[in-house]
Amino acid sequence: MDKLDIKLWTLEAKGHIVPDRSLLKTPEQIDAIKKSADLNTAVLDHVAAHIHAGMSTAEIDRLVYDYTVEHGGIPAPLHYQGFPKSVCTSINNVICHGIPDENEILVEGDIVNVDVSTILNGYFSDASRMFTIGNISPKAEKLVRVTRECVELGLKAAKPWGHLGDIAYAINTHARANGYSVVEEIGGHGIGLAFHEEPFVSYVTPKGSEMVLVPGMIFTIEPMINEGGPDFYIDEDNGWTVYTDDDGLSAQVEYMVLITETGVEVLTK
Ligand code: MF3
Ligand code: CO
Repeated sequence: MDKLDIKLWTLEAKGHIVPDRSLLKTPEQIDAIKKSADLNTAVLDHVAAHIHAGMSTAEIDRLVYDYTVEHGGIPAPLHYQGFPKSVCTSINNVICHGIPDENEILVEGDIVNVDVSTILNGYFSDASRMFTIGNISPKAEKLVRVTRECVELGLKAAKPWGHLGDIAYAINTHARANGYSVVEEIGGHGIGLAFHEEPFVSYVTPKGSEMVLVPGMIFTIEPMINEGGPDFYIDEDNGWTVYTDDDGLSAQVEYMVLITETGVEVLTK
């Protein structure tokens, strides 16, 4: 047992949830995961430079596939549990997992989440941004702004040896203060050596609850914020697309973060 094992074991004995040592990345793994995250960011920048009213979400999919492959990567969503495309594109009342389609055209007023995930040399990365198409309504503008603020507040609440619940509390409090709700059953995840690792990251749990944040952990902060209620349904035909139950707008921003000895580092900016 080394010092870290003893610290983790002591916390566990006091009733805290602690990560398995396998979830704590080595410096070599962190370097490789950062390279994957850098490519993931470049893909999102490429989308940002080309997204426009009148294009189809299938064109976004081609931008993501071509850029990723040209730079030596593999789009992680492609064929993941049967997902048919290289990226998730989720418009307006779609919460997440929208499937790019030739017949789905971006129009002025849309808010679109583009969720990009990349495999580079076997290492995984994942991040998403909100894009606004032309002039959008004040209520859509506010939802996108508050969702970005939620993620920033979640980041500020993330401290080594704190808890995942501290992040959730900061996010949920800000969302609710603005009259919004946070999706409960779909959340973030550990990432790096696989697409989805432990822990499941909820954004509705209490302060001080859930897993302890230990240096070397890498996971996503990706709350889905709804203007109406948190309930949703999944498209029966494709088995993927998640819609708000009440047809209200939904927004999401996803960062991939590393817990360090002194704080938190965003790997996907
Ligand atoms: N980026 C999504 C996530 O955060 C990926 C969903 S799986 C997919 O987990 F197949 F839809 F891409
Ligand atoms: Co994710």
